Amino acid sequence: MTAQELEGMNIYMNEVDIAGAGRCTLCHPIIKDVDSSPLMTDYSYNNLGVPINNALRTANGKAGTNDEGLFLNPDVNDTSLKGSFKVSSLRNIAVTGPYMHNGVFKEQIKNMNKEKVLSINLFFFFLYS
Ligand code: HEC
Repeated sequence: MTAQELEGMNIYMNEVDIAGAGRCTLCHPIIKDVDSSPLMTDYSYNNLGVPINNALRTANGKAGTNDEGLFLNPDVNDTSLKGSFKVSSLRNIAVTGPYMHNGVFKEQIKNMNKEKVLSINLFFFFLYS
């Protein structure tokens, strides 16, 4: 592993994330030897406070309202789940944008912290190429 791949692994596995929310593996686990092609999701739901995509809400005739995510499921009554979305797979993440449930992040996610994102990408490349 190169120094930069190693840095990416450390960020992904150990560091508090760029938003201070905790390690990536808390929600996007890499479980070695459990599955030959891990999807890097624990399939749980979380509310990350992803910004509203106003253009998309307007196009869908829902201007001025929030997407309530999991709470829109008629079988879900727990109001604390409003705005929760399933943890996305990170397989091939570099080429699967736009990102988040509403595509609100396109290039921005790559620009958040270029050095860190590049290191994480190189680590994934090391793991799965
Ligand atoms: C608390 C759980 C949690 C943690 C910790 C977390 N994520 Fe996520 N991540 C999510 C959820 C939930 C989504 C989907 C959000 C949505 O669709 O609005 C997501 C989506 C993403 C996406 C967009 C995927 C797509 O295809 O749209 C990327 C990229 C991502 N996470 C990377 C990371 C990285 C890198 C870290 C660590 C620095 C991290 N995440 C930490 C829960 C988490």
